[in-house]
Amino acid sequence: MIYPPTQANIEKAGTYIREGGIVAFPTETVYGLGASAFNEAAVKRIFELKSRPAFDPLIVHIWPASEIGLVADPQSNPLIASRLARLGMFWPGPLSLVLPKHPMLPRIVTGGKNSVAVRVPGHPVALALLRACGMPVAAPSANPFSAVSPTSAQHVEEAFGDRIDMILDGGPCKIGIESTVVSLLEEKIRILRPGAVTEEQLLEVFSRDQICCVRVDCKEQDTAEIRSPGMLSRHYAPKTPIALKGSIDMDQLPTRVGLIKFKEDRDTSNKMDFCVTSTLSKTGDPKEVAARLFATLRNLDKQGLNLILVDCCAEEGLGRAIMDRLRRAASPKK
Ligand code: TXA
Ligand code: MG
Repeated sequence: MIYPPTQANIEKAGTYIREGGIVAFPTETVYGLGASAFNEAAVKRIFELKSRPAFDPLIVHIWPASEIGLVADPQSNPLIASRLARLGMFWPGPLSLVLPKHPMLPRIVTGGKNSVAVRVPGHPVALALLRACGMPVAAPSANPFSAVSPTSAQHVEEAFGDRIDMILDGGPCKIGIESTVVSLLEEKIRILRPGAVTEEQLLEVFSRDQICCVRVDCKEQDTAEIRSPGMLSRHYAPKTPIALKGSIDMDQLPTRVGLIKFKEDRDTSNKMDFCVTSTLSKTGDPKEVAARLFATLRNLDKQGLNLILVDCCAEEGLGRAIMDRLRRAASPKK
């Protein structure tokens, strides 16, 4: 059930988590499905609820940041410790850091890996919940595996309804796209999943030769999926097929096509007959596009369309994360 984030409800949610329950909560990126990171049965339940493969590790949410020593062991390596200190400026915020795992953190959380992804979410309700339960919370996005991530409490309710103890409602997520996942385990800082903390922002803290990414033009792309098991190609996908504009012959479109435009245009020439057209931003602002993208995909997915055609944007800044999610959503079913 959906609950408003009153202090009493946040306390109640904290008690549920402490006692092994499952609570969905808002973050600035997407809604998370949270359980105590130290309760193996509760974490197992999260994997079951999501039908998530056991090898795909969860992100552990902490607050205050000083709790990091409970789940990770960054001090074991001075280089990792110093990088962590510099990246701390992005916390609370949409940045998950992959660090050596603390031996006491159950392996089920990390999908059997020796590393753990940690973040401090930038949302007051998430922080209040972490404070109320007083322990690290393992939380993947609150959607069935491979489906579109939830950016509202209603999206979580549609998927999990009464099968979880509580859904805290923090309104629509401001960022709307999952956190940037960055590994500090290797010689270079590796961006495993692009997100709202952009490569450009990381380049303000580290030099170009200290950072490695998983862009299409990056030779190391192939190994990225193994390093971050969650980055499977088909992900974030509605049931309706998706095609990116430019990747499909516009003369061969099926009937009942929906269009997602990033920007309003006044060009009325060559107007095709789309069943539905959704425009994400008046000016094409990537922040607005990201914030509305997942909810719009869900909405169009309910309209019995044969195809959802989606705009593309420049692969820079937040545009890189937007195109990453769309490419995955458009990748064919295996
Ligand atoms: O914005 C977010 O990160 C949201 C909110 C709820 O915090 N969470 C989220 O979690 O997106 P999830 O489980 O949907 O995605 C976590 C990603 C997966 O791709 C997973 O493989 C990767 O992080 N990951 C987690 N732990 C890892 C590790 N130890 N090494 C490499 N990748 C890891
Ligand atoms: Mg997810």
